[in-house]
Amino acid sequence: MLTNPQRALRQKLSDWQRAGVTHVPHLEPSAPVSVPRKMELQTPEAPPTASVTASPPPSPPPKPSKSVASPELPVSPSKLTLTQREQELSTLAQTVANCTRCQELASTRTQTVFGVGNPKAQVMFIGEAPGADEDKQGEPFVGRAGQLMNKIIEACGWQRSDLYICNILRCRPPGNRNPTPEEAGNCREYLDGQIGIVDPEYIVCWGSVAAHNLLDETISIGKLRQKWFKYGRAKVLCTYHPSYLLRNPAAKKPVWEDMKFLLAEMGLEPPSA
Ligand code: URA
Repeated sequence: MLTNPQRALRQKLSDWQRAGVTHVPHLEPSAPVSVPRKMELQTPEAPPTASVTASPPPSPPPKPSKSVASPELPVSPSKLTLTQREQELSTLAQTVANCTRCQELASTRTQTVFGVGNPKAQVMFIGEAPGADEDKQGEPFVGRAGQLMNKIIEACGWQRSDLYICNILRCRPPGNRNPTPEEAGNCREYLDGQIGIVDPEYIVCWGSVAAHNLLDETISIGKLRQKWFKYGRAKVLCTYHPSYLLRNPAAKKPVWEDMKFLLAEMGLEPPSA
C-alpha cells in the first residue's frame, strides 16, 4: 500500500517521464524504495574488477545523465523483509498489468510480462523485451532464448529461482522489433522499481538493448563486456543476448567468460571447475 508521499512521488515521476526524463538526479528524502538510484560509470582506465570510481556531479533534469545522485531513502531497500519485497513487487506488477503508456504495445499484448524470481536475489538478469512465448506465458525468458539462458544459469551452479529476471520492456513489441526509446522510457519507472525493491548486488544486462538502456550507453556489447559498471549499489555486467548466441554459437565462449567473471567477483566458482 502506497503512502501519500509515495503516491505523490510516483505521480511526479510519471510527469517527468512523460516529459522525457529517464533518470532522476535528486529526490526528496521521502522517496519510496522504487526509485532510480546512483549510477556511476567505470572509467575506461580502471582495472576490470576494481570498484567503480566516483562519477562527476549529477546534471539536472531533463537531460538524462550517466551519473545520478542517490536519494537518502527513508527505508534502505536492503532492510526490507522478503514479505515486504513480495508485497511491493506484487503492487507494482498490478500497476504494470493495467499500464497503457505505450498504446501500440498495450493494444497488441496478450498480457504484461513483469518479472520473475527471488525478491531478495543477489543477481538480477535484465533482457530486452518479451517475445511471443513470454507474451503467451506471462514470464520472461521461457522461449528458446530462455532455455539457453537456463543452461547458462545451471552451468553457474544456480537455479532460475535464485535469480530475479526481467526485461527493459514489460510488453511484447509486435514482430519482436526493438523497443523504441519512448517505450523504454515509459517502462523505466517499473524497471527502476523492481531494481529498488529487489536491490540486487549484481545486474547482468543481456544484450545491447538492456545494456544501452540501463547504462545510457551506445557502444557495442563487445566493448562493454568484461567490465564493471554501477547502477545504484549494483555492479553491472554486460554480455551478449541469448538470442544472439542462438544465431552465433561462437559467442557462447565469451558469454561463459563473462559468467566466470561474475562468479569470480562474487567469490564463487562454476560447479564443474
Ligand atoms: N528475450 C528477451 O530479451 N526477454 C525475454 O523475456 C525473452 C526473450
